This record gives sequence, C-alpha cells and structure tokens, in this order.
Amino acid sequence: MLVLGLETSCDETGVALYDSERGLLADALFSQIDLHRVYGGVVPELASRDHVKRMLPLIRQVLAEADCVATEIDAIAYTAGPGLVGALLVGASCAQALAFAWGIPALGVHHMEGHLLAPMLEEQPPEFPFVALLVSGGHTQLVRVDGIGRYELLGETLDDAAGEAFDKTAKLMGLNYPGGPEIARLATQGVPGRFVFPRPMTDRPGLDFSFSGLKTFALNTWQRCQSAGDDGEQTRCDVSLAFQQAVVETLTIKCKRALKQTGLKRLVIAGGVSANKALRASLEDMLAGIKGNVYYARPQFCTDNGAMIAYAGCQRLAAGQQESLAISVQARWPMEQLAPL
Ligand SMILES: Nc1ncnc2c1ncn2[C@@H]1O[C@H](COP(=O)(O)OP(=O)(O)OP(=O)(O)O)[C@@H](O)[C@H]1O
Ligand SMILES: [Mg+2]
Repeated sequence: MLVLGLETSCDETGVALYDSERGLLADALFSQIDLHRVYGGVVPELASRDHVKRMLPLIRQVLAEADCVATEIDAIAYTAGPGLVGALLVGASCAQALAFAWGIPALGVHHMEGHLLAPMLEEQPPEFPFVALLVSGGHTQLVRVDGIGRYELLGETLDDAAGEAFDKTAKLMGLNYPGGPEIARLATQGVPGRFVFPRPMTDRPGLDFSFSGLKTFALNTWQRCQSAGDDGEQTRCDVSLAFQQAVVETLTIKCKRALKQTGLKRLVIAGGVSANKALRASLEDMLAGIKGNVYYARPQFCTDNGAMIAYAGCQRLAAGQQESLAISVQARWPMEQLAPL
C-alpha cells in the first residue's frame, strides 16, 4: 500500500511517500522558521498561508523523487490534530480534495502518534510494549505503549512543554527561534557548575513534569547577570548548559521511574527535544545501567515531518480504517481517544 503523508500542524510543511512493502520512498520538508523568526515565535495566520503555497510543489517533488505517478497512490494520510487549526485545515482540505479527485481514501492522523511512531522508520525499530517519552514544542508526556492506538498516559507536564521551555529560555537571552538547537549549541561551550538550576518535581513521587519554573529561574539568573554587566557570550553558554542539564536530568529521572513502574526496559523518545544529544546520551547511560535500550528517530524525523504521518497513516489504513469526506480537524485531541489497531 502506497501512502502519501501530509503534515501541516504548525510551521513545517512535510510531505512523504511511504510504501508498506518498500518502506519510505521520498520525504520533503519546507520549514517556515525564517518566516516566523522575526516575530520570535509562530504566527498562525502566516503559517496557514505558507502551507497553501508549499503543499502542491512539495507533493510534485516527492512524486518525482520516488519516481511515482499520482495514480499509484493508494491512500492519503494527513495530520488532523492536535495543532494550529488554520494550518491543520490546509493539510486536511488538500488531502480530502486530492483523495476525492483520485478516488482513494484519506485518513486523519494524530500528530503525536506520528511523532511516537517515527522511530519505527529506523533500521532497528522498537518492539511493543515500550515506554515513550514525547518531548516536543507543545507536549511533554510519558506514555505506556502496548501497540498502535494502545496508549496509557503515565504522566505529563502541568505547564510548559520541555521544547517550549527551551524556546522561552533562549528568547529571554536574545537567542533565535527555535531555541532548542541554539541552547544545545551554546551549552557545548558552557562552564559546568557555574550555575545550578533546580530539577522540578523530582523530589516527590509521580510522573508529571513542570518546566515553567525553570524558565523563570533562567530569567532571574540572566537578569542578575545583566545587572552585574556580565551578560556576554560566555554567560549565555553557562546559562544554556545549566538549563539543559536541569531539563535532561529531570527527564532522565522520570523516565527511569516510568520504566521501573511499568517493568519495561524499552524506552522510545520522540518529538523535537529528542534530537538533543545530551538527552540521548543521558538516557543511553541510564538504560545501559538497567540493561535496557533507548530508541529514537534520525534528527530530521524528531521534529515535524511528513514521513511519520505517512507511516502512522499507512498502519491504520492497512488495518482498514477510513473516514468520510468531511473536513474536520482538532486543535486539542487526547491520544488515548485513538482507536486501537
Ligand atoms: N537539539 C535540540 N535540543 C532541544 N530542543 C530542541 C532541539 N531541536 C529541536 N528542539 C525543540 O523541539 C521543538 C520542536 O519540536 P516539534 O517540531 O516536535 O514540536 P511542535 O511540532 O512544535 O510541537 P508538538 O509536536 O507538540 O505539536 C522546539 O521547541 C525546539 O526548540
Ligand atoms: Mg510536532
């Protein structure tokens, strides 16, 4: 089954072709980062308009790359939520219009299920069951995964997502959007131990997170340095390192706890923050200590992309799931509401 996947939940237009027999055939992405950078974050209306411009050229591009023609496509999968409603509607309308014109089914995919399944595209995919840490710009969740659509939420952030905390901390120090890669880059030059940030909610039981306090701690630290006239590049690096270490250690402690609680030894990390090298190293260390394994996608499939949507859609379409031609998207959509396969 050859599936065209369309991703438009936020500020990346992603298109890919995934075949159930041959695997991923082509994948193309247009990132709107330059468009939103001047505003320091995503402007929803600009995002929607840009998806309209990019979608059809990207579809032509992946068809050419895969050496396919439109009549070979068996079905279309698109991101139906959660995300920005206007941006989601572009992908949904495009998918439903093409599906109608080509006489094939279309299926709305959950964006976070896409992230969660992205490591399945790698050479050594994880087997079910596993614990998944979803760490992205809008989500921080620990989920027990027993199969596709068999999700049990173990814990989640009570306020900011981890990626959001990276972005906000970067912004307050005058760094570019998105802040995660910027902080990670500066952290490599940071002096360990100059600043020590708290590890929020690790001293009490449970698997929930809270990251807004870390951002405030970063703000206070940065402002104190500014008043002392010590707000140069090295201080940015030192704050970046201290902040990143706090996020990484907090996530590692909670993952360890989740694995212990579930008795599982396989951990999947997904979403933009799972591209962070310090996080990967820390989790690999922790998993080595309990003789377990950690799985993640290649960096370009950690952030938003069409391949994960094509893959997730293909699994559900191949199992016979279909939907009507109605164009409907959801800004909020708990993953536990998904039907199991
Ligand atoms: N190397 C990195 N280190 C830390 N954070 C990173 C890194 N690379 C990307 N990020 C962060 O990942 C986030 C983007 O990830 P992603 O595209 O998965 O999120 P999103 O799609 O905006 O949110 P969601 O998937 O929850 O809707 C941003 O917050 C970005 O700063
Ligand atoms: Mg995402």
